[in-house]
Amino acid sequence: MSFPKARVLTQPGEFAAVSSQSGAAYYDFLKRGCAMKKAIVFLAGDGIGPEVTRAAVTVLREAAHEFHHQFEFAEFPIGGAAIDAAGTPLPNATLDACRKADAVFLGAVGGPKWDSLPVGKRPESGLLALRQGLGLYVNVRPVKLLEPLRGISPLKADRLGDLDLEIVRELAGGMYFGERGNVVENGVERAFDTESYSTSEIERIATFAFARAESRSRRICSVDKANVLASSQLWRRTVTAMSAAYPGIRLEHMYVDNAAMQLTLRPSQFDVLLTTNMFGDILSDAAAALAGSIGVIPSASFGSSTPLFEPIHGSAPSLAGTDTANPIGSILSVTMMLRDAFGLSLEADWVEQSLLRVLSGGYRTPDLAEPGARTVTGSAFTEMLREEMQRTLEHAERYGWGV
Ligand code: IPM
Ligand code: MG
Repeated sequence: MSFPKARVLTQPGEFAAVSSQSGAAYYDFLKRGCAMKKAIVFLAGDGIGPEVTRAAVTVLREAAHEFHHQFEFAEFPIGGAAIDAAGTPLPNATLDACRKADAVFLGAVGGPKWDSLPVGKRPESGLLALRQGLGLYVNVRPVKLLEPLRGISPLKADRLGDLDLEIVRELAGGMYFGERGNVVENGVERAFDTESYSTSEIERIATFAFARAESRSRRICSVDKANVLASSQLWRRTVTAMSAAYPGIRLEHMYVDNAAMQLTLRPSQFDVLLTTNMFGDILSDAAAALAGSIGVIPSASFGSSTPLFEPIHGSAPSLAGTDTANPIGSILSVTMMLRDAFGLSLEADWVEQSLLRVLSGGYRTPDLAEPGARTVTGSAFTEMLREEMQRTLEHAERYGWGV
């Protein structure tokens, strides 16, 4: 039998084919042969951030242990916690550590304690500065129905269809980074924020979206407000011009107000949604509701330096400390890290399959509870997932993966 020298299996199907033919010894060899060394920085942040970060740590620790990876973990402060500890929402030591890491996981930032601080000094500005400091201009937010949760979607089953879309949100420009300020004119105060995009900023995010669409069902809907905004007109013109280089991809354009309505009416019409920083922020929360809870949606950000993985939910101060936060967004952000940053798709599939089994058993955190559900705390849910991961692995070792 000839063994691969390095990691060669990138598809779960390939793994099933090899492992079921070759038995447990070969399976074990593969796991060892593919071992990786990675440095991961955790930024737990505020509110429920530390609780959901613990779930991420648990899953990564299991993956490292079972597949013989060496994952080195380090934790640094961000957001309100960093303001309290170091007087700034993004201490230099945090940014430096993130730059040197292979991947960063972030929980959530913000909370009422820091609400009176001015824009630029708040916990949220730490996150924006981190994204900027890491050169992250791509944010992917997959909104996919977890089948056992179909019943709690606010959409009726026929409208919900096979909800499986990805929002590709521009992350480094637009209104969140534009010029802003306050002025007093004739004794009247005025505040302003500006939306601006350059051709190259639009091209680099659209390039990512086109590539993403090529690996999915080859459809992009670019969302803008080109009937009103100059920046949107450039956006639309640029994306249209680029589409000539992608003849196999169907591009359509939609105004953001219509896109918000279409998402609610018939979300299955969308595959990849390409949009600006602000529209992506808003539409992703709306789309998340369709999947049952914002607590289940992960995200991945990419750019010129270390990739960042974070659930899209906020710090939910009212839930903090109650162990009711849903860890699924966090867990799925870890599977994106495994698959998209480290190329460890087998490990990611393993976590996802196990997660679906826990949900199929009826276990739910309170945000997902429906009549008859077995409501559990966030930490109990994570522990159930850990146990299920063990069972899935034992099964795979005996019978092959995905059987
Ligand atoms: C998100 C959040 C952040 C954003 C905030 C906390 C700055 O809403 O990731 O969606 O607007 O990007
Ligand atoms: Mg948001």
